[in-house]
Amino acid sequence: MTKRIAVRELEENRKDWDALVPLHLKSEFYGVERFLNGGTALGSIEQREVGPVRGCSLLHLQCHIGIDTLSWARKGANVTGVDFSTEAIRAARDLAARTGLSARFVPADVYHLPESLKGKFDIVFSSWGVIAWLPDMEKWARAAAGCLQKGGFLYLLDIHPLVHLFDDSRTVKGMKPAGSYFHEKVKLVPESGSYATDYKGNVTFPRHQWQESLQDVIRGIIRSGLVIEDFSEHEVMPHKHLPFMRRLRNGYWAMPETGPRIPLSFSIKARKPSG
Ligand SMILES: C[S@@+](CC[C@H](N)C(=O)[O-])C[C@H]1O[C@@H](n2cnc3c(N)ncnc32)[C@H](O)[C@@H]1O
Repeated sequence: MTKRIAVRELEENRKDWDALVPLHLKSEFYGVERFLNGGTALGSIEQREVGPVRGCSLLHLQCHIGIDTLSWARKGANVTGVDFSTEAIRAARDLAARTGLSARFVPADVYHLPESLKGKFDIVFSSWGVIAWLPDMEKWARAAAGCLQKGGFLYLLDIHPLVHLFDDSRTVKGMKPAGSYFHEKVKLVPESGSYATDYKGNVTFPRHQWQESLQDVIRGIIRSGLVIEDFSEHEVMPHKHLPFMRRLRNGYWAMPETGPRIPLSFSIKARKPSG
Protein backbone atom coordinates (compact mmCIF):
# COMPACT_ATOMS: atom_id res chain seq x y z
CA MET A 1 0.00 0.00 0.00
CA THR A 2 1.22 3.52 -0.79
CA LYS A 3 1.67 5.23 2.55
CA ARG A 4 -0.77 8.14 2.97
CA ILE A 5 2.08 10.55 3.65
CA ALA A 6 3.24 10.04 0.06
CA VAL A 7 0.14 11.84 -1.21
CA ARG A 8 1.57 15.18 -0.11
CA GLU A 9 5.08 14.20 -1.13
CA LEU A 10 4.06 13.10 -4.64
CA GLU A 11 2.13 16.35 -5.10
CA GLU A 12 5.21 18.37 -4.11
CA ASN A 13 7.33 16.31 -6.51
CA ARG A 14 4.80 16.91 -9.29
CA LYS A 15 5.14 20.68 -8.89
CA ASP A 16 8.95 20.37 -8.87
CA TRP A 17 8.84 18.35 -12.11
CA ASP A 18 6.56 20.98 -13.66
CA ALA A 19 9.14 23.66 -12.87
CA LEU A 20 12.01 21.59 -14.32
CA VAL A 21 10.34 21.07 -17.70
CA PRO A 22 11.38 24.43 -19.28
CA LEU A 23 15.00 23.79 -18.18
CA HIS A 24 14.97 20.28 -19.60
CA LEU A 25 13.53 21.46 -22.92
CA LYS A 26 16.62 23.69 -23.31
CA SER A 27 19.16 21.18 -21.98
CA GLU A 28 21.95 19.53 -23.97
CA PHE A 29 21.16 16.30 -22.07
CA TYR A 30 17.65 15.98 -23.50
CA GLY A 31 18.79 17.33 -26.89
CA VAL A 32 15.34 18.37 -28.11
CA GLU A 33 16.85 19.96 -31.28
CA ARG A 34 18.66 16.70 -32.10
CA PHE A 35 15.40 14.86 -31.63
CA LEU A 36 13.46 17.35 -33.80
CA ASN A 37 16.11 16.87 -36.49
CA GLY A 38 15.29 13.19 -36.64
CA GLY A 39 17.56 11.70 -33.97
CA THR A 40 16.44 9.11 -31.47
CA ALA A 41 16.35 9.73 -27.74
CA LEU A 42 16.60 5.99 -27.08
CA GLY A 43 19.84 4.34 -26.02
CA SER A 44 21.30 1.16 -27.46
CA ILE A 45 20.34 -0.90 -24.37
CA GLU A 46 16.60 -0.36 -24.55
CA GLN A 47 16.51 -0.54 -28.35
CA ARG A 48 18.22 -3.94 -28.25
CA GLU A 49 16.34 -5.36 -25.27
CA VAL A 50 12.83 -4.18 -26.19
CA GLY A 51 13.34 -5.27 -29.80
CA PRO A 52 11.12 -4.47 -32.79
CA VAL A 53 8.01 -2.44 -31.95
CA ARG A 54 6.46 -1.81 -35.37
CA GLY A 55 2.69 -2.19 -35.09
CA CYS A 56 2.83 -2.72 -31.31
CA SER A 57 0.86 -0.66 -28.82
CA LEU A 58 3.33 0.81 -26.32
CA LEU A 59 2.54 2.60 -23.05
CA HIS A 60 5.37 4.72 -21.65
CA LEU A 61 5.05 5.29 -17.90
CA GLN A 62 6.68 8.46 -16.50
CA CYS A 63 7.33 9.68 -20.03
CA HIS A 64 8.48 13.18 -19.00
CA ILE A 65 8.73 15.47 -22.09
CA GLY A 66 7.93 12.55 -24.37
CA ILE A 67 11.03 12.31 -26.53
CA ASP A 68 11.61 8.64 -25.70
CA THR A 69 7.92 7.95 -26.31
CA LEU A 70 8.06 9.72 -29.67
CA SER A 71 11.29 7.91 -30.53
CA TRP A 72 9.37 4.63 -30.16
CA ALA A 73 6.70 6.14 -32.43
CA ARG A 74 9.43 6.82 -35.02
CA LYS A 75 10.18 3.09 -34.87
CA GLY A 76 6.59 2.28 -35.72
CA ALA A 77 4.92 1.76 -32.33
CA ASN A 78 1.47 3.15 -31.52
CA VAL A 79 2.44 5.11 -28.45
CA THR A 80 0.80 6.49 -25.33
CA GLY A 81 2.81 8.42 -22.73
CA VAL A 82 1.74 9.02 -19.14
CA ASP A 83 3.20 11.48 -16.67
CA PHE A 84 1.74 13.36 -13.71
CA SER A 85 3.52 16.59 -14.65
CA THR A 86 1.03 18.59 -16.70
CA GLU A 87 3.91 20.75 -17.99
CA ALA A 88 5.75 17.62 -19.19
CA ILE A 89 2.59 16.43 -20.96
CA ARG A 90 2.08 19.86 -22.52
CA ALA A 91 5.69 19.76 -23.82
CA ALA A 92 5.27 16.19 -25.11
CA ARG A 93 2.08 17.11 -27.01
CA ASP A 94 3.85 20.12 -28.50
CA LEU A 95 6.80 17.97 -29.66
CA ALA A 96 4.38 15.44 -31.16
CA ALA A 97 2.68 18.25 -33.09
CA ARG A 98 6.01 19.69 -34.28
CA THR A 99 7.24 16.31 -35.55
CA GLY A 100 3.89 15.20 -36.94
CA LEU A 101 4.25 11.93 -35.04
CA SER A 102 1.05 10.29 -33.88
CA ALA A 103 0.98 9.87 -30.09
CA ARG A 104 -1.36 10.18 -27.16
CA PHE A 105 -0.12 11.87 -23.96
CA VAL A 106 -2.16 11.46 -20.80
CA PRO A 107 -1.62 13.45 -17.58
CA ALA A 108 -1.95 10.92 -14.73
CA ASP A 109 -0.28 9.62 -11.61
CA VAL A 110 1.02 6.09 -12.19
CA TYR A 111 -0.74 5.09 -8.98
CA HIS A 112 -4.08 6.29 -10.39
CA LEU A 113 -4.08 5.36 -14.05
CA PRO A 114 -7.35 5.99 -15.91
CA GLU A 115 -9.53 2.96 -16.70
CA SER A 116 -9.19 3.76 -20.41
CA LEU A 117 -5.56 2.57 -20.33
CA LYS A 118 -6.26 -0.77 -18.61
CA GLY A 119 -5.53 -4.00 -20.44
CA LYS A 120 -4.68 -2.38 -23.76
CA PHE A 121 -0.96 -2.59 -24.46
CA ASP A 122 1.55 -5.03 -25.97
CA ILE A 123 4.42 -3.26 -24.21
CA VAL A 124 4.64 -1.16 -21.06
CA PHE A 125 7.95 0.71 -21.10
CA SER A 126 9.61 2.81 -18.39
CA SER A 127 13.21 3.95 -18.17
CA TRP A 128 15.91 6.03 -16.49
CA GLY A 129 14.83 7.89 -13.40
CA VAL A 130 11.70 5.91 -12.59
CA ILE A 131 12.04 3.95 -9.36
CA ALA A 132 13.49 6.77 -7.21
CA TRP A 133 10.13 8.56 -7.34
CA LEU A 134 8.08 5.58 -6.23
CA PRO A 135 7.19 5.01 -2.58
CA ASP A 136 5.69 1.59 -3.42
CA MET A 137 7.23 -0.63 -6.14
CA GLU A 138 4.65 -3.39 -5.90
CA LYS A 139 1.77 -0.99 -6.46
CA TRP A 140 3.63 0.47 -9.46
CA ALA A 141 4.23 -3.02 -10.92
CA ARG A 142 0.54 -3.90 -10.44
CA ALA A 143 -0.45 -0.70 -12.27
CA ALA A 144 1.92 -1.56 -15.14
CA ALA A 145 0.70 -5.18 -15.27
CA GLY A 146 -2.91 -3.96 -15.34
CA CYS A 147 -2.24 -2.07 -18.58
CA LEU A 148 -0.78 -5.09 -20.41
CA GLN A 149 -2.69 -7.35 -22.72
CA LYS A 150 -2.19 -11.07 -22.10
CA GLY A 151 1.15 -12.06 -23.62
CA GLY A 152 2.45 -8.48 -23.49
CA PHE A 153 5.54 -7.44 -21.54
CA LEU A 154 6.82 -4.82 -19.12
CA TYR A 155 10.29 -3.43 -19.76
CA LEU A 156 12.00 -1.42 -17.01
CA LEU A 157 15.50 0.06 -17.29
CA ASP A 158 16.87 2.21 -14.49
CA ILE A 159 19.80 3.30 -12.37
CA HIS A 160 21.04 0.49 -10.14
CA PRO A 161 20.08 1.04 -6.48
CA LEU A 162 23.66 0.28 -5.43
CA VAL A 163 24.89 3.49 -7.11
CA HIS A 164 23.14 5.71 -4.59
CA LEU A 165 25.32 4.36 -1.77
CA PHE A 166 28.17 6.29 -3.41
CA ASP A 167 26.30 9.56 -4.06
CA ASP A 168 28.61 11.51 -1.74
CA SER A 169 31.86 10.11 -3.20
CA ARG A 170 33.99 12.76 -4.91
CA THR A 171 36.91 10.51 -6.00
CA VAL A 172 37.28 6.83 -6.89
CA LYS A 173 39.76 6.29 -4.08
CA GLY A 174 37.37 7.97 -1.67
CA MET A 175 34.43 5.71 -2.61
CA LYS A 176 32.77 4.68 0.60
CA PRO A 177 29.25 3.24 0.78
CA ALA A 178 26.88 5.32 2.90
CA GLY A 179 23.19 5.30 3.68
CA SER A 180 20.87 2.37 3.07
CA TYR A 181 20.70 -0.04 0.16
CA PHE A 182 17.29 -1.14 1.42
CA HIS A 183 13.95 0.62 1.11
CA GLU A 184 13.79 3.95 2.80
CA LYS A 185 12.83 7.54 2.23
CA VAL A 186 15.98 9.37 1.10
CA LYS A 187 17.04 12.48 3.01
CA LEU A 188 17.82 14.89 0.20
CA VAL A 189 19.81 18.08 0.51
CA PRO A 190 17.81 20.61 -1.59
CA GLU A 191 19.67 21.20 -4.86
CA SER A 192 19.23 23.56 -7.80
CA GLY A 193 18.30 22.17 -11.20
CA SER A 194 18.75 18.51 -12.08
CA TYR A 195 20.91 15.78 -13.62
CA ALA A 196 20.17 17.36 -17.02
CA THR A 197 21.31 20.93 -16.55
CA ASP A 198 24.02 23.15 -15.00
CA TYR A 199 21.33 25.63 -13.94
CA LYS A 200 21.90 27.15 -10.50
CA GLY A 201 18.80 29.06 -9.48
CA ASN A 202 15.56 28.74 -7.60
CA VAL A 203 14.16 25.73 -9.44
CA THR A 204 15.09 22.72 -7.33
CA PHE A 205 15.37 19.00 -7.89
CA PRO A 206 12.18 17.11 -6.86
CA ARG A 207 12.43 16.89 -3.12
CA HIS A 208 11.09 13.43 -2.22
CA GLN A 209 12.89 10.25 -3.23
CA TRP A 210 12.77 6.63 -2.17
CA GLN A 211 15.59 4.13 -2.23
CA GLU A 212 14.29 0.90 -3.77
CA SER A 213 16.44 -2.22 -3.55
CA LEU A 214 16.46 -4.77 -6.37
CA GLN A 215 14.47 -6.94 -3.98
CA ASP A 216 11.69 -4.31 -3.94
CA VAL A 217 11.70 -4.12 -7.73
CA ILE A 218 11.85 -7.85 -8.45
CA ARG A 219 9.45 -8.86 -5.69
CA GLY A 220 7.02 -6.12 -6.76
CA ILE A 221 7.03 -7.42 -10.32
CA ILE A 222 6.63 -11.06 -9.22
CA ARG A 223 3.72 -10.12 -6.94
CA SER A 224 2.04 -8.23 -9.79
CA GLY A 225 1.60 -11.61 -11.55
CA LEU A 226 4.10 -10.91 -14.34
CA VAL A 227 6.71 -13.54 -15.17
CA ILE A 228 10.28 -12.26 -15.31
CA GLU A 229 11.95 -13.58 -18.44
CA ASP A 230 15.12 -11.48 -18.52
CA PHE A 231 17.24 -9.47 -16.12
CA SER A 232 20.55 -7.66 -16.76
CA GLU A 233 22.97 -5.46 -14.90
CA HIS A 234 24.86 -2.89 -16.99
CA GLU A 235 28.14 -1.05 -16.41
CA VAL A 236 26.83 2.20 -17.91
CA MET A 237 24.24 4.89 -17.26
CA PRO A 238 23.02 7.94 -19.24
CA HIS A 239 24.32 10.82 -17.11
CA LYS A 240 27.45 11.67 -15.12
CA HIS A 241 26.10 10.63 -11.76
CA LEU A 242 29.47 10.58 -9.98
CA PRO A 243 32.14 13.20 -10.71
CA PHE A 244 34.79 10.64 -11.74
CA MET A 245 32.69 8.84 -14.36
CA ARG A 246 33.97 8.80 -17.95
CA ARG A 247 32.00 9.27 -21.15
CA LEU A 248 32.03 6.40 -23.63
CA ARG A 249 31.87 6.84 -27.41
CA ASN A 250 28.32 5.51 -27.43
CA GLY A 251 27.23 8.38 -25.15
CA TYR A 252 26.83 6.40 -21.92
CA TRP A 253 28.80 7.13 -18.75
CA ALA A 254 30.94 4.46 -17.05
CA MET A 255 33.27 4.01 -14.08
CA PRO A 256 36.97 4.81 -14.71
CA GLU A 257 38.89 2.14 -16.63
CA THR A 258 40.76 1.33 -13.42
CA GLY A 259 37.44 0.36 -11.81
CA PRO A 260 35.92 -0.65 -9.52
CA ARG A 261 33.44 -2.58 -11.69
CA ILE A 262 30.01 -2.09 -10.18
CA PRO A 263 26.57 -2.25 -11.82
CA LEU A 264 25.37 1.24 -12.73
CA SER A 265 22.00 0.23 -14.16
CA PHE A 266 19.67 -2.75 -14.50
CA SER A 267 16.91 -3.88 -16.84
CA ILE A 268 14.01 -6.31 -16.47
CA LYS A 269 11.61 -7.80 -18.97
CA ALA A 270 8.50 -9.45 -17.47
CA ARG A 271 5.57 -10.94 -19.36
CA LYS A 272 1.86 -11.20 -18.63
CA PRO A 273 0.93 -14.88 -18.95
CA SER A 274 -1.24 -15.51 -22.00
CA GLY A 275 -3.27 -18.31 -20.40
C1 LIG B 1 13.57 11.38 -14.58
S1 LIG B 1 12.03 11.67 -15.36
C2 LIG B 1 11.93 10.28 -16.43
C3 LIG B 1 12.77 10.64 -17.51
C4 LIG B 1 12.50 9.90 -18.77
N1 LIG B 1 13.18 8.65 -18.75
C5 LIG B 1 13.08 10.74 -19.85
O1 LIG B 1 14.29 10.64 -20.04
O2 LIG B 1 12.37 11.54 -20.40
C6 LIG B 1 10.86 11.19 -14.14
C7 LIG B 1 9.45 11.49 -14.57
O3 LIG B 1 8.59 10.77 -13.68
C8 LIG B 1 7.44 11.55 -13.49
N2 LIG B 1 6.79 11.03 -12.28
C9 LIG B 1 7.32 10.91 -11.05
N3 LIG B 1 6.44 10.35 -10.21
C10 LIG B 1 5.32 10.09 -10.93
C11 LIG B 1 4.05 9.52 -10.63
N4 LIG B 1 3.74 9.11 -9.40
N5 LIG B 1 3.14 9.40 -11.64
C12 LIG B 1 3.42 9.83 -12.89
N6 LIG B 1 4.60 10.40 -13.23
C13 LIG B 1 5.55 10.53 -12.27
C14 LIG B 1 7.95 12.97 -13.39
O4 LIG B 1 6.95 13.93 -13.64
C15 LIG B 1 9.05 12.97 -14.44
O5 LIG B 1 8.57 13.44 -15.67
